[in-house]
Amino acid sequence: MNRALSLPSSGELSGEIEVPADKSIVHRSVMFNAVAEGTARVEIPILGRDNFATIRVMRQLGVEVEVEVPQALASIAEAELEGRCSVGGRSGCVVKIIGHGFEALRGPDGKLDCGNSGTTARLVCGVLAGTDFSSTLDGDSSLRKRPFGRISVPLSKMGAKFSGETLPLEVTGSALKGIDYISPIASAQVKSAILLAGLRASSSTSVREPFLSRDHTERMLRAMGAEISQKMLPSGEWLVKIEPLLGGKQLRALDLKVPSDISQAGFFLVAGLLIPSSRVTLKNICFNPTRSGLFHILRRMGAAIETSNERVLCGEDVVDITVESSQLRGVHVDPGEVVSCIDEIPILCVAAAAAKGTSRIEGIGELRVKESDRAAMIESLLRCYGVKVRSGIQHLEVSGVGGVQNLSLDPSAAVDWKSCGDHRILMSAAVLGLAAQGMTEVEDIAAIETSFPNFLDCFQELGCELASDEAGA
Ligand code: S3P
Repeated sequence: MNRALSLPSSGELSGEIEVPADKSIVHRSVMFNAVAEGTARVEIPILGRDNFATIRVMRQLGVEVEVEVPQALASIAEAELEGRCSVGGRSGCVVKIIGHGFEALRGPDGKLDCGNSGTTARLVCGVLAGTDFSSTLDGDSSLRKRPFGRISVPLSKMGAKFSGETLPLEVTGSALKGIDYISPIASAQVKSAILLAGLRASSSTSVREPFLSRDHTERMLRAMGAEISQKMLPSGEWLVKIEPLLGGKQLRALDLKVPSDISQAGFFLVAGLLIPSSRVTLKNICFNPTRSGLFHILRRMGAAIETSNERVLCGEDVVDITVESSQLRGVHVDPGEVVSCIDEIPILCVAAAAAKGTSRIEGIGELRVKESDRAAMIESLLRCYGVKVRSGIQHLEVSGVGGVQNLSLDPSAAVDWKSCGDHRILMSAAVLGLAAQGMTEVEDIAAIETSFPNFLDCFQELGCELASDEAGA
């Protein structure tokens, strides 16, 4: 079934919305509490299929996790959790995790199905590395193509054994030793897997990364009682060090209220900036400095974008963000900044397409190994709207057309992006289509549910109209 989203008759977007929970924080809150001692209650606004994968996998490892979802999420939750959830009357979700420490984990009966979620699969490797059993990780066709050597290489140095470098991947746990690892890439997934394994090693473990990747793991593990230190080196690299849990020490269960995800907010920030006369507020956004790159880049591009209601919630900075439509200009983004908005690069490129002047984004190599080759998909998408893009392995250059009125759909352009199944590319395409033509067709709703089940509802809350074409024509 296709969905057609059109602009309100006023032509502008207006209102306040709350986008889904920060996906990175939800994964960690479930996984870390599952290996802690005690019962944790985690309150989460809407969450997507990826987060259900982490709940499913931790249950397969013997952890008791109770899940209550709102009616709007019932069918997704029931499908992802094989019916093991309840439907409550509130608008958000509540997840209760009853942890009994790492030692209580049990070898699973079948494969651990991580679906589309790279964060589930990579972080859980760090948990599995120190167990006394073997387990096999698997995922969908996209996840099976993604690299796991970045995880198996350091964890093998610590003592765990891996059957290969892609899924399906057998992980055999072992007694672990601490390592000092120099990571060639700034990746929070790599860093987090090593830190989790480090909790069970016989001595301290450190990870050095070229730029500081998102630090939710460090913040949360510290709040749960782990000993972690972090510093910038004179070279500009970052070093994080963790001490093992020795002498029966355990992580403490941690209750959390998860704020909303800046990666999901990004689609509405850019829509509000591009669609004339709009004013949009995104409520309750996690504004962790390692994640807020998009905000600062948009501001450099000339965006009327402000934060308000600044506060700290469960160890994370939280703000509301308001945008008003603005004429944007081209921007230069360097590799350190890319790390702070790696998942927002597709929607940033949509903003760059409508800007006046050329934007150059350097250090985008990691984009090529996400749920799709996102750099290639962005090129394919922007070319459909007549935007010139030049790219190399590590850079993207977008020649902005100077306003949405100059974006027009080229019916003869190749549409490789349409079948990529990548949630972030499909949502970026929806925003671009809406801004350029005042309406947009959204086909692969199931892929968008990976992270944002209520994506279209949020546009409706801002006044857009939604029509369904049952025939899928
Ligand atoms: C994530 C880290 C990032 C990001 C992913 C979520 C995390 O991946 O792209 O969506 O929660 O740790 P890398 O660490 O591989 O850059």
